[in-house]
Amino acid sequence: MMRSYDDFFQTSLKTLKEEGRYRTFIQLKKIPNAFPKVLYCKGPVQKEVTIWCSNDYLGMGMHPSVLNLMHHSIDQDGAGSGGTRNIGGTHHWHVKLEKELADLHQKDTALLFTSGYVANEATLSTLGRHLPDCIIFSDEQNHASMIHGIRYSGTEKRVFRHNDLEHLEKLLKDSPPSAPKIVAFESVYSMGGDIAPIEKICDLADKYQALTFVDEVHAVGLYGEQGGGIVQREGLSHRVSVICANFGKTIGVMGGYIAGNHHLVDFIRSFASPFIFTTSLPPVICAGALASVQHLKKSQSERETMHKRVDFLKKALRKTPIDFLDSDSHIVPIMIRNASLCKQISDELLEYHNIYVQPINYPTVPKGQERLRVTLTPFHTEKMIELFIESLLKVWEKFNLTLPIKNHA
Ligand SMILES: Cc1ncc(COP(=O)(O)O)c(C=O)c1O
Repeated sequence: MMRSYDDFFQTSLKTLKEEGRYRTFIQLKKIPNAFPKVLYCKGPVQKEVTIWCSNDYLGMGMHPSVLNLMHHSIDQDGAGSGGTRNIGGTHHWHVKLEKELADLHQKDTALLFTSGYVANEATLSTLGRHLPDCIIFSDEQNHASMIHGIRYSGTEKRVFRHNDLEHLEKLLKDSPPSAPKIVAFESVYSMGGDIAPIEKICDLADKYQALTFVDEVHAVGLYGEQGGGIVQREGLSHRVSVICANFGKTIGVMGGYIAGNHHLVDFIRSFASPFIFTTSLPPVICAGALASVQHLKKSQSERETMHKRVDFLKKALRKTPIDFLDSDSHIVPIMIRNASLCKQISDELLEYHNIYVQPINYPTVPKGQERLRVTLTPFHTEKMIELFIESLLKVWEKFNLTLPIKNHA
C-alpha cells in the first residue's frame, strides 16, 4: 500500500492552523536610511510600515561603520570563507573578531559559530556528552537552542523553576557531590524581558562546584560600559565560566560565539561537531560584526537613547489599561493570552495602523501566554511611540479589550 506522506503533512499543518499557531511570514523590504520604517510587501502591493519587533535593537545593521567595513571586506575577501575553520576557512577577520570578543568579555578567548543557536547547542551538547556523569541544571525558560543542546548531550538534566534560586539549590544539593555540574541560564530572557540573578547563581555554582553557562544574546551591546552585557554591567566576568552571545541581534549582522577560559574553549573547538564540520562565517560577516562590536565598545549614545525610549514607552503604557510585563530590561511584552486574538490584533495593527509587531504564540511561549513582544530602537522617536500607543488603544477598543486583557482570557 502506498503511504500517504502528504496526508500526514497536511493533517499536522491543519492542526497548527486550527490552534492559531500556523506561522505566516511577513515579507519586508528595507528602505535605505529609513529604519525602523520598512516596506511591507503583500503580493504586488507595498506599503510603508514601522517595525516594532526588530532584534536589530540599535539599528547597527544599517550603521555606516558596519557597512563601510563590510564593503571594504567584500571587495578584498569576496563572498564566502571557502572552507571550514580547519580547512582554509580561518581568515584574519575571524581571528581579529575572536580577540575583540575575548577582550569585550574579559575572558581568555572566544570562538565563533555560524549562529547563536549553534553556539548554544554545540557548547552544551559537547560539554554534557564529554564530561563523565555530568548533570546540567537548566532554567525552565531557557531558549530552544539550549534545551536542544542539553537533550543532544544525552546527559542528565534537572530543570529549575524560572530564576528560582531556592529550587536551583535544592536540585544541586540533591545531586551526587562528585558529579560534574553545569548551570545553564540566560541573562535577559527573550520573551519576558526579566533578568537572571547572575551573582547569586554564581554563588550557588561555586558552592556546589558547578560551571556556569550564560546566554547573553539579548544583552550584548545593550548593557555594560562597553556593551559587554549584564555580566559586564554587574562586574561578574570572572565569575561565569562561559558566555554565549550572537551577532544577529544588537550587533546587526549574524553569527554566534562563546567566550571563556582557554582550556574550555579549546576543548569545544576541538570536540564540537557543529563547530568543526561546517563552513565558517564569511569574512565579510566577521568584518561587519567587528566594526559593530568596536563601535559599541566606545559609543554609549545608541544604547542610552534606546533605553530612554523604552522608559518613555513603559511610562506611557502604565497609564493605559494595556496589560504588559513591566520588566527591568528593554523587552516590552504586551500580554494577549490567546493565540488567535494575538494574531488578529497583530493583523489589525499591520493592515490599518501601519504597525508591524509579530504575534508570539506557543511553543515560543506557553499556551495562554501569547503576546506581542515589543522592542524599540534609538530610531523610534517619542512621537512615534505616542502614535503607537494611540493605535493600540484604538485596537483595544475595537476588540473590546479596554479592561486589562488578562480579565478577558
Ligand atoms: C536567548 C536566545 N539564545 C539564542 C538565540 C539564537 O541566536 P541566533 O539567532 O543567532 O541563532 C536566540 C535567538 O533567537 C535567543 O533568543
